Amino acid sequence: MKTILVTGGSGFIGSHVVRLFVNKYSDYKIVNLDALTYAGNLENVSDLENQNNYVFEKGDITDLEFIRSLFTKYNFDGVIHLAAESHVDRSIKDPLVFARVNVMGTGTLLQVAKESWKENFEGKLFYHVSTDEVYGSLGDEGFFYEDTAYDPRSPYSASKAASDHLVRAFNHTYGFPIVISNCSNNYGPNQFPEKLIPLFINNIVLEKPLPVYGKGVNVRDWLYVVDHARAIDVIFHKGKVGETYNIGGHNEWRNIDLIKEMCAQLDEKLNREKGSAEKLITYVTDRAGHDHRYAIDATKIEKDLGWKPSLQFKEGLGKTIDWYLANKEWLKNVTSGEYQNYYAKMYEKVDG
Ligand code: NAD
Ligand code: DAU
Repeated sequence: MKTILVTGGSGFIGSHVVRLFVNKYSDYKIVNLDALTYAGNLENVSDLENQNNYVFEKGDITDLEFIRSLFTKYNFDGVIHLAAESHVDRSIKDPLVFARVNVMGTGTLLQVAKESWKENFEGKLFYHVSTDEVYGSLGDEGFFYEDTAYDPRSPYSASKAASDHLVRAFNHTYGFPIVISNCSNNYGPNQFPEKLIPLFINNIVLEKPLPVYGKGVNVRDWLYVVDHARAIDVIFHKGKVGETYNIGGHNEWRNIDLIKEMCAQLDEKLNREKGSAEKLITYVTDRAGHDHRYAIDATKIEKDLGWKPSLQFKEGLGKTIDWYLANKEWLKNVTSGEYQNYYAKMYEKVDG
């Protein structure tokens, strides 16, 4: 029996990773550590609550003594680290939170894992989940490769880049066993409706304006979240210690084209007149320092580990829209903040 710590397992991507591991590996105990910030939601993993190889722990990755007590309690064999502040716009408003959680939180986990594994790293692995945004911004041509020089340009990507550097420094200095992946934009069920796709689905349903930043010509490379979780599984089990793997969907869309595709699909699914969702498009002031284009070259993971995306984008987008339409209650809860009040009450006693 292996015991694996997954951080951020109640968030968007983490919940899909936890589900895949709990269901696929009955001989692993999966411990989901999450602080349940606005982005973390136990509803995202409610289907796993009664599985006997799954445990939830509420806590903060920056709390050194708590993390030490968790490692003592479970004696982890591996860590898959996803917990982070993840939204670029929030990082522009409040950069220090990102420095604290993404840099200090990662440093805390590294330090405690190193102490706990007591320099006998045989069979242990610290998997750090990162983003393509650390590579900066591309022009209209070219791709991000694993050896592309880092050039982060938002407080979010700078904090992720700093955490990647710390992870590599632990590997170089102490021989600490790590692996890193840098993935492109994810979409799918359970994404918090502050990110482009769920925000716009929600606004179209409610017939609210769709705030397109700048001219809508920025390009993102979209990957279905379950395919990211599958890639994490493959890298965790077959990846080479010390290596970095890029993950991406070969699926670049200009924001405005993607938005029009969402509008068309939603008009049809909601039985509304063709063109009605597009009327909600509203061009607003651009995001400060808005990166122009991200595009991943995922040849390494495809060739070395045999992973490739399973879903075509229009199909994945359709499935995603269907999920949000079928889960209006989830959307209502997370946007109203009701679930936050619920957790505050639920954990009153535990938190003292
Ligand atoms: P998310 O914001 O949906 O979830 C983050 C989770 O981390 C939440 O459950 C939150 O409660 C938890 N968390 C935040 N601060 C914490 C703390 N101090 N202690 C413990 N838990 C804490 O994020 P996501 O989109 O699922 O991203 C997960 C990871 O993947 C992040 O590291 C992100 O940088 C990376 N990533 C995201 C994308 C994407 O498109 N969303 C792409 C590539 C990489
Ligand atoms: O590339 C991976 C990254 O993708 C992850 O590391 C981040 O955690 C994740 O949030 C995402 O970052 P982006 O900034 O690319 O995602 P977001 O959904 O915020 O925005 C996608 C694009 O849409 C971007 O060009 C900004 C634009 N946008 C976004 C919002 C929220 C709008 O035009 N209007 C909006 O209201």
